[in-house]
Amino acid sequence: MQIASITPDRHAEFLAIVNAEIRPDRAKTHAWDDFPLILSPLNAEWTLIATSPEGEIMAGLACLIREYTTSCGKIPLAGVGSVVTKPEFQGQGLSSALQNALLAKLKGKNVPLAVLWTDQPEIYAGRGFVPAGWELHIDFAGATLDESFPPGFQVRDFNGSDAATVQALYDGHQLRTLRLPGDAEKLYGMPGTRGLVAVGEGDVVLAAVFCGKGADFPEYVAEWSGPVGLVLPLLGEARRREWAHQVLVPPGGNQLAERLIARGASSFACPGGYWAVLQPEGLSRYLQAAGIGSPGNVDDPAVLLGHVDKNGNPVMGPVTIGVWGLDSV
Ligand SMILES: CC(C)(COP(=O)(O)OP(=O)(O)OC[C@H]1O[C@@H](n2cnc3c(N)ncnc32)[C@H](O)[C@@H]1OP(=O)(O)O)[C@@H](O)C(=O)NCCC(=O)NCCS
Repeated sequence: MQIASITPDRHAEFLAIVNAEIRPDRAKTHAWDDFPLILSPLNAEWTLIATSPEGEIMAGLACLIREYTTSCGKIPLAGVGSVVTKPEFQGQGLSSALQNALLAKLKGKNVPLAVLWTDQPEIYAGRGFVPAGWELHIDFAGATLDESFPPGFQVRDFNGSDAATVQALYDGHQLRTLRLPGDAEKLYGMPGTRGLVAVGEGDVVLAAVFCGKGADFPEYVAEWSGPVGLVLPLLGEARRREWAHQVLVPPGGNQLAERLIARGASSFACPGGYWAVLQPEGLSRYLQAAGIGSPGNVDDPAVLLGHVDKNGNPVMGPVTIGVWGLDSV
């Protein structure tokens, strides 16, 4: 077996395997529609495959590296996804070997943290991935939301020419991914993702919500931006159209969460993914630079990033990171 980054000529072959093995039932979109950045050919260096002596792709995985604005400054983070082994090669340690190879490569690039989302945590536990951080899931189906917009504002569908403006609104979030040029157009243009914008005089876009992420996050608002006073009626419109009745609120989105809960929405907190600390020393330096000093157990993601306690309440750690739905991989 050989493990290496995929070469551009074989990228489509890997995508076909991911699409065959990891899609939700009856998905109307392809894997590369819902995950356009991690599965882009531009990300080939961070797409590892295990090949047989005959050259067949047996298994693979990918990660997307971006910097995040955190409570301790900008920190590079690797989102791991598209983890797949062809059925006939499963149970032979291929995915373990690929995960180990990826984490070793990330350490070499000074990426101190990795995160993934899965309903099979046992596949990754051996590499130190544990639940950590938190996110709120808010159901606004029964909430009292404004039926109309404040005077001077109205709603319309998002269109591709709004991408740069909406990205600038997203950049107003304190905790977010630092997207690279071109990322926003791909994320906001994902097939199956429906956006609504609130516009003021001159059709200036002032707020936005995005529903779904292709076949991922059905009936969820996966991202919102702009003043809460405009986001609330946008959520009302998304609900009226039956596009979404839940919203994913990462750390930093508390203002919207509080307003929704005050209007009768229900909520629960759950871990913000499965996290692994790849470089405790590197993270200590970020904490020291942020004036936090170096708490013990920097290598424990649940201590570092916080967690959800046994009563279902978020507990903060020294580092807070917000991953928005559209940025998950
Ligand atoms: C999940 C998947 C990638 C695992 O690939 P694999 O090559 O068979 O995995 P490995 O043999 O390397 O096993 C990886 C780890 O998972 C554990 N594992 C594998 N299958 C398991 C199972 N059914 N139940 C519990 N643990 C399991 C192994 O014990 C191993 O743990 P260790 O490394 O700590 O010893 C493969 O089953 C697959 O492609 N499934 C369909 C696509 C999918 O679900 N991808 C994951 C999306 S999050």
